[in-house]
Amino acid sequence: MITINNVKKYFETKAGKITAVDEVNLQIKEGEIFGVIGYSGAGKSTLIRLLNGLEVPSEGSVIVAGKEISKIQGEKLRRARQEIGMIFQHFNLLWSRTVRQNIAFPLEVAGVPKAKREQRVNELIKLVGLEGREHAYPSQLSGGQKQRVGIARALANNPKVLLCDEATSALDPQTTDQILELLVNINKKFGLTIVLITHEMHVIKKICHRVAVMETGKVVEMGPVLDVFKNPRAQITKRFVQKITEQEDTTDVIQHLLEKYKTGKIVKLSFINETAEQPIVSRLMKEHPVTVNILQGNISQTQNGTYGSLYIHLDGDEVSITKVLNVLKQEQVGVEVINHD
Ligand SMILES: Nc1ncnc2c1ncn2[C@@H]1O[C@H](COP(=O)(O)OP(=O)(O)OP(=O)(O)O)[C@@H](O)[C@H]1O
Ligand SMILES: [Mg+2]
Repeated sequence: MITINNVKKYFETKAGKITAVDEVNLQIKEGEIFGVIGYSGAGKSTLIRLLNGLEVPSEGSVIVAGKEISKIQGEKLRRARQEIGMIFQHFNLLWSRTVRQNIAFPLEVAGVPKAKREQRVNELIKLVGLEGREHAYPSQLSGGQKQRVGIARALANNPKVLLCDEATSALDPQTTDQILELLVNINKKFGLTIVLITHEMHVIKKICHRVAVMETGKVVEMGPVLDVFKNPRAQITKRFVQKITEQEDTTDVIQHLLEKYKTGKIVKLSFINETAEQPIVSRLMKEHPVTVNILQGNISQTQNGTYGSLYIHLDGDEVSITKVLNVLKQEQVGVEVINHD
């Protein structure tokens, strides 16, 4: 659905040339929810703006729904853009128009006749759950409701792709989850391809199928969300994943435990899918002369499965501990022994 080929984007500024997007190659499939994560300034917004022609690449090509966005202009580009909806962090609503009028706006621009427009607006209001609020003005809505208007407006012309630039960053955690659920429903119902950019791993974890990690304009890591969670390679990815899988004080707690337990081993276990549900640890304790203290555990649900991590203190004789660790590895459990620094 989307192909980004060797794309570079430079900006000439007074301070010199800035490379906002650097040699990016991505293929995004139809019906996929694809996430791009990175810190501020990584080039995420520039990348997403290249997808709907708001920016033109300095090098390389961008193809969306069969059209080379990076080449076309004028009327052709306007028509191609009807296939690409977009929502923003600050909603970008028309403040002097009601909810209905905001949602109707892109239909007016596309020249849809009034009766059809009215019918489509009704459908959209229902789809995003804004019944009863259609005559309100944006200033009378909560943040979550404003983003629902943004989503309805973006979907008005039945786009094939929805771009989301930090669409939940201005919302509280609960509202964020509601909006993310709405996006998942829309993706499932219409097979809509969604590209979303965020600096929050929680958003990626909750709804994306695949993720690309961006740092200084480059994609430094990419893969199915569960794989990236299980085995993050780049340093920056490890940091993002840790935010989800570890409580803030984990490093301190582990340091403390290493000092406290002079014998045995502190081990981080990672589980995915079926292994996450099996009571492996209690079974091992029964079968081998070891004791297990569970120190901290965490389970995350992603779109492609469950990911769990568990910190344990494993005590017993050296041979039994090694045996237990081997059994765990055979059962496809990730095993990482935490050592004294
Ligand atoms: N129009 C522009 N002119 C000059 N420099 C720009 C322009 N747009 C973006 N940049 C620069 O490109 C780099 C990437 O910016 P971009 O907005 O894509 O980052 P981002 O990952 O979206 O960051 P944030 O999370 O803060 O939104 C930054 O260094 C930024 O200053
Ligand atoms: Mg941005």
